[in-house]
Formats: sequence, C-alpha cells, structure tokens
Amino acid sequence: MLFESWPTCNSINLFTQQPFHISNFLIPAGAYRGNSLREEGHNVMKDLRDFIATCEKEGELRRVKAEVDWDLELSHICKVVEEKSGPALLFENVKGYKSPVLTGAFATTKRLAIILGKSTNLSMVELTKAWVDVATKNVVPAKEVKDGPIFENIVDGDKIDTFAFPSPKFYELDGGRYFGTAVFMTIQDPDTGDINLGTYRMGVLDSKTVGVQLLKGKKGDRILKKYGKKGKKMPACAIIGGDPLHIFAGAATVPGAKSVMMWLEPCAVRLWRL
Ligand SMILES: Cc1cc2nc3c(=O)[nH]c(=O)nc-3n(C[C@H](O)[C@H](O)[C@H](O)COP(=O)(O)O)c2cc1C
Repeated sequence: MLFESWPTCNSINLFTQQPFHISNFLIPAGAYRGNSLREEGHNVMKDLRDFIATCEKEGELRRVKAEVDWDLELSHICKVVEEKSGPALLFENVKGYKSPVLTGAFATTKRLAIILGKSTNLSMVELTKAWVDVATKNVVPAKEVKDGPIFENIVDGDKIDTFAFPSPKFYELDGGRYFGTAVFMTIQDPDTGDINLGTYRMGVLDSKTVGVQLLKGKKGDRILKKYGKKGKKMPACAIIGGDPLHIFAGAATVPGAKSVMMWLEPCAVRLWRL
C-alpha cells in the first residue's frame, strides 16, 4: 500500500487476505474475575483464531448464526450487548457475506486479560499495572522472516475489492463503512528503519481504496512527513483480523521502545514476524 497524499484522508490500495474482520473497540467497564488462564496453560495464543477459541472456552464469546445486516444492525446489536458487559460476538451470517465479523473483543477486563496472556483473576487496576510493566521493561527486537501464512492467499490489481468484506456501517451519520476500527497499520521510519504500529480507523472510500487519518503529532504522522520531505510515498501495511495484542500495541504509546515491534515479544511470548 502506498499513501498518495496528505493531509486529511490518505488513499491506500487495500490488500488483505485475513478472513476475520474485527471491529468495535471499546474500553472495558469494571473488573471481571474468573479463572487463571495462565495456570491452565492457555496463554499460548498466537492469532485471532486462538483468541476466539479461548474466549469460547471461557464462555466469553457467542456465535450469532441469525442473518444480520452490516448496515447499522450489526453495530446496534454489539452496542446493546457491550452495554451489558456481555460476550464478544462472532457474527457468522452477515447479509451478503461469508466472512464473519468479530465485535467486543476488548469490552471486558477478562477479555483484556486473555489478550495480554495474564490471569483472568486480575482486577482492572492489577491488569493496568501488569500492562505498564510489560510496556516498560525487557523490550526485545523483532525478527524478520521471508515467508508466513499471510502469503497463502494473494489478491492483486483489478481483483482487489474492498466490498468483498463485511465492513459494518456503525452510525447513521457515518460517511460510510469502516473496514477497520480495531485494526492496525505498520509503517517504517525511512531514516531509522524503526517499525511503527498504529491503530487508526480505516473507512472504505471505494472498491480499491480505504482512507486513514493520521492525527497530527502521532508517530505515524511524523513518519509520514519524513516521506513527504523526501518526495516519496509512504509504504504501509494494514492488518485486519490480526492478533488483538497487536491492536493494543498499535493504540499504545510505548516509552523506551525504539520500535513498537521490540516490545511485543515479551508482552505475551508471542512472536511478531515481518
Ligand atoms: C479504536 C481506535 C481507533 C483509533 N483511530 C485513530 C485514528 O483514526 N487516527 C489516529 O491518529 N489515531 C487513532 N487512534 C489513536 C492511536 O491509535 C494512538 O494514538 C496511537 O498511539 C497512535 O500511534 P502512533 O503515535 O505510533 O502513530 C485510535 C485508537 C483506537 C483505540
């Protein structure tokens, strides 16, 4: 993907082959107590499928088999469920689509603990302390590899179609459908080579492009400006349907980590490979 222009909405040629569309990021309300996943040896998640399986095992996920419209209906259902601290929802029958949509992944303290690979007995305050610890100590460099599951399905050129995925329209006054809310984007600093993760909303503009707004002052914005000064387009990779831990990382400011990738490894013993 290449950013075409600045400042407001930057066009991206969308390219993704992940079957899950994760949306609707909400900050958790209240402490939730449960069993320790760590003690039970469950903290070995490596992707979104593992997260879904763990949530299901813990009674933290409900599959919605009834047909649901991506146009306002889906967002309304997940909002009502989240207000009651209900389970994450996996909509398996989105009208006109085969891919499922996951909502509410981050909406309870217990699910946050699952994402971080921490004990689900932790209160929100304890979990926050554990999170600060993770984000400030023992950063480890990321590894670069030549292949991975991401290359299993490739769609390119004219075949790219953003409407092939069940992006929801959340609110009546939204300008359109959002391909990503709980998603993240990776970019590379052209001067230092550091990799940055950023969680930025991605709105569908047409069948080939989604728009991303990098707010002024964010690291993503500062990196984009470096490319601008060099007269270059900024390559970017949008990850939709990835490990929820990376979405956390994308939304966090990590002090002391040269690159956000460095910090992910110790966070939950999950390897991030480029
Ligand atoms: C669900 C969600 C959506 C977000 N959307 C945006 C966005 O569209 N644009 C933006 O600049 N920041 C957005 N943010 C905030 C950034 O993720 C956050 O400030 C992050 O630290 C930015 O990373 P950066 O400083 O490395 O660019 C969002 C955060 C969350 C949790």
